[in-house]
Amino acid sequence: MATLITGASAGLGEGFARALAAQGVDLILTARRIDRLEALRAELDQKHGVAVHIVAADLADPAAPDKLVADIAAAGLIVDQLINNAGFGLRGGFADLDAGQQLGMIDLNCRALVALSRAVLPGMVERRGGGILNVASTAAFQPGPWMAVYYASKAFVLSFSEALHEEVKPHGVRVAALCPGPTRTEFADVAGMGDSALFKTFASDADAVVRDGLKALKANTAVKVSGAANMVMAESIRLTPRGLARRIAGAMQKTKSVDRL
Ligand SMILES: NC(=O)c1ccc[n+]([C@@H]2O[C@H](COP(=O)([O-])OP(=O)(O)OC[C@H]3O[C@@H](n4cnc5c(N)ncnc54)[C@H](OP(=O)(O)O)[C@@H]3O)[C@@H](O)[C@H]2O)c1
Repeated sequence: MATLITGASAGLGEGFARALAAQGVDLILTARRIDRLEALRAELDQKHGVAVHIVAADLADPAAPDKLVADIAAAGLIVDQLINNAGFGLRGGFADLDAGQQLGMIDLNCRALVALSRAVLPGMVERRGGGILNVASTAAFQPGPWMAVYYASKAFVLSFSEALHEEVKPHGVRVAALCPGPTRTEFADVAGMGDSALFKTFASDADAVVRDGLKALKANTAVKVSGAANMVMAESIRLTPRGLARRIAGAMQKTKSVDRL
């Protein structure tokens, strides 16, 4: 039995791998940067003596999830926990950002997450055990002008995870959605928002987010918002008129680079 972690070459995924290895959990790690996965495998093997299987995959490729699942089966491994963590965002006007990159974001953040969940869940249900942790975001709670596709992708992840949670709970299988707010990883630079006031002011440590996620997975908490300020924000959005919530989110994402739209 092993835990499959997507996006394990950096940030939260790397943190999940380190935290689980310290608990003696065997791992299957995937991402595109195989050199980083190899270095992490060597580190975890040396420190904790756990088995770490690595697979390079570009999960924005619609064929990749099936191939990953086939590679895992060929290695004789069984996934009893899945952490759907790989994801990225892009900041900018929807009409300006590259169409292929935005569609690739949906393929990674949503399609691959669904495909991998669908591949591993039947076995979990049959064994009456195991769990899935889907990394959503506080972006899931409101529309996000200037990051429209990213916010919508995370709303999908949250809704999907909550629905799955109810479906498989009677079968002894856990499904949790983790909703981090801004967190210090490579995410902000990839998204083109390293200069964002949101990040500069509010970013959390990745380790704290990882701890919250693993706790939620263990306790089968359907939705875990990480961090007290983010919890207050997520709760207050429920009481905020939707038009106001989206204008606030838009104001936080907008920068001079997208002012012309
Ligand atoms: N950091 C934040 O502020 C924040 C806030 C809320 C939610 N989140 C969510 O947290 C999750 C983890 O992000 P992070 O903050 O840890 O960001 P990160 O440091 O940029 O790590 C992202 C991970 O995803 C992998 N990845 C990206 N594109 C991929 C692809 N096409 N195929 C396979 N793997 C790919 C990357 O590996 P390779 O580049 O090696 O492929 C990397 O391991 C994401 O779902 C993100 O949306 C982050």
